Amino acid sequence: MHIVAMHSEARARRHGACGRRDWGDGEHIMNPHANLKQIERIVERLERVLAGHPRPIPLHVPTFRGNCAAYVNECIETGWVSSAGAFVERFEADLVRYTGAKHTVACVNGTAALHMALLLAGVKPGDEVICPALTFVATANAIRHAEAMPHFVDVEPQALGIDPVALERHLEDVARREDDGGCLNASTGRPIRAVVIMHTFGHPADVDGVQAVCEKWGLTLVEDAAESLGSYTNGRHTGTIGRLGVLSFNGNKVITTGGGGAILTNDADLATRGKHLTTTAKQPHPWAYVHDEVAYNYRMPNLNAALGCAQLEYLDELLVAKRRLAERYVEAFSDLEGVSIMVEPDGCRSNYWLNALVLEHGTEADRDALLEALHEAGFLCRPIWEPMHRLPMFTACPRGALPVTESFAARVVNIPSSAHLATSDIQKEITSADASADV
Ligand SMILES: Cc1ncc(COP(=O)(O)O)c(C=O)c1O
Repeated sequence: MHIVAMHSEARARRHGACGRRDWGDGEHIMNPHANLKQIERIVERLERVLAGHPRPIPLHVPTFRGNCAAYVNECIETGWVSSAGAFVERFEADLVRYTGAKHTVACVNGTAALHMALLLAGVKPGDEVICPALTFVATANAIRHAEAMPHFVDVEPQALGIDPVALERHLEDVARREDDGGCLNASTGRPIRAVVIMHTFGHPADVDGVQAVCEKWGLTLVEDAAESLGSYTNGRHTGTIGRLGVLSFNGNKVITTGGGGAILTNDADLATRGKHLTTTAKQPHPWAYVHDEVAYNYRMPNLNAALGCAQLEYLDELLVAKRRLAERYVEAFSDLEGVSIMVEPDGCRSNYWLNALVLEHGTEADRDALLEALHEAGFLCRPIWEPMHRLPMFTACPRGALPVTESFAARVVNIPSSAHLATSDIQKEITSADASADV
């Protein structure tokens, strides 16, 4: 069954159960036997989708093939392993072609890229930067690295990205526009400079909605597209809609460079400045060490870029496999009350980086019992992140009301999502199609 076709059905199922206090079969949540039965049903569906794969099955592993080894060997053989090698610029050019961004700056990792993007966006020490409360910690960390204060807002229940309605309502409560066009948090006295939107698990957030709020309030939009290489909203690649966007190529992402990240922007001046600041602000010269400001050693090394170039060559194949796996999960869970699989929002194309089970109702204890059973069965699943405002270093940060964040934090479980979990089957299908064509 096609994912898009399942989408509204899945959503209707998710919302249709609102108000019930169980997470399956209409049995009460406090009934341990009901929960046990539901856990068994969930494990059984994973067994069905992932049949034939040796366990334990990790959440996400990279796929290395094609030119990966050849390009890395080329770095070793030529001695160009560090940031000056030719693969770095080639990777940047490939990313420009792939994403449609006018410029990219390859960085050592996504967190460094996000830190740099915030500096390029004009974030200053003492500013506030709005970001979702439900995100990976790097989003909020990068804001602190820029010596600004994270300010948490709620997400919407479909793609788990910043909710533009909640954002606008919150700004109306706490902020005011200044005569110079800026935005001030009237309750803290600090300027609010930017909004970082994040595309959770690869599903595009409502960038246009959030962009409209940013324009109204004089805020710069930065996209944390760390998880969403290969995801599109109305035909535009995630990370290319805000002033700046950021990708990650960490080992757990759709493609990996070991460690790596990139800044995306359509602004040539920002890209030039980004490249300068990520390469210790060294002025180009064949031998002299002239650096014109305090800057960063954030440029991606050639070894890492080599892996990136090789994997971009088959990224589209990985995305086909990941979509196929997501379709299988959607189908397997279609008849199970109380649980749904997250799917791409209308008008969007997701890379299906990490598939997620959403338990319609239930507590953290229910979720943890499920995680324990899944691990016991050899499925190395993970809960969604602890929301940022609950982490000790961020408890004092300003925030809006977070009802959706609080609700989903207890009910989302990521399930195995590596591309190879579907590619072997796709390969089999191709082989048998070839075989039947021969007959
Ligand atoms: C949403 C998000 N932002 C930022 C990052 C940081 O990327 P990196 O691990 O490459 O520093 C990650 C992933 O790791 C992420 O998932």
